[in-house]
Amino acid sequence: MDLSKDIRYHDSIADEYDQVVLAPREAATRRLFAPALRRLAANAPFAQMIDLGCGTGHMIRRAGALATRVTGVDHSPGMLATARRMAEAQGLREVHLEQGDLEDFLAAHPDHADLVTAVGVLHHLGEDSLDRVLAAIHRSLRPGGWVLLAEPVADGPIVEPAAITRWNQASLAARRGYRTAEEDPDEAPLPPALLRAAIVRAGFAPVHERRRWEVYNHCEQPGWVERLRIEWLQWRHRGTGFIYACLARKA
Ligand SMILES: C[S@@+](CC[C@H](N)C(=O)[O-])C[C@H]1O[C@@H](n2cnc3c(N)ncnc32)[C@H](O)[C@@H]1O
Repeated sequence: MDLSKDIRYHDSIADEYDQVVLAPREAATRRLFAPALRRLAANAPFAQMIDLGCGTGHMIRRAGALATRVTGVDHSPGMLATARRMAEAQGLREVHLEQGDLEDFLAAHPDHADLVTAVGVLHHLGEDSLDRVLAAIHRSLRPGGWVLLAEPVADGPIVEPAAITRWNQASLAARRGYRTAEEDPDEAPLPPALLRAAIVRAGFAPVHERRRWEVYNHCEQPGWVERLRIEWLQWRHRGTGFIYACLARKA
């Protein structure tokens, strides 16, 4: 795994990431995490949350209010700079952003957090590191702590339902792309059964799991009709999809 290539790539996309990646997924992502966030809110407040591979602060925005202290860890200074601007703009004073490798951070912080989030990160580390990283997340959590993960998953060639492909062709995602000339980082969707087995093997009990297709917004601020259509497309193809999300508890 070439970490310097990953850092260069994420530095080069940091200014555009929210527009290119987060905005087109806003409606679908909100629905993806809603049940897990409700469950976490029922157990909040947490003393310490860690967001691994925090990027521009996506999960800090979604879940940070559930914790008294939040630490975002990322090895890309560019992504962290964008996250810092977001935290300042939103007046999030208890957010600490740390540059470094997430495995080094976890090794230095055993028995530290009540909630760890890692979204779109593990597939950058590769299948071979899954057991090692999930065991490190388990050690970083206090007894009864929670982990919320979401990753792209696939067993082979991705065959998206035709209705979703048609919808996505007219979406914000189809109109937006990165301008970077940097080489793509090493990343690949994870085999879903392998990921789930690694979560359980690490000592976590899955509490809520969801598998969804990425169905993108057509508008920046989708109204209720558009959100309903996105939800309907996802419901029609429920149980399959490119994204697997899992809320699990340290057993
Ligand atoms: C696809 S982005 C996801 C960002 C964010 N979690 C989100 O949901 O929008 C992956 C992030 O993981 C970071 N990353 C990848 N490998 C890492 C590692 N070994 N240590 C720390 N950060 C890492 C990248 O710099 C990037 O910001």
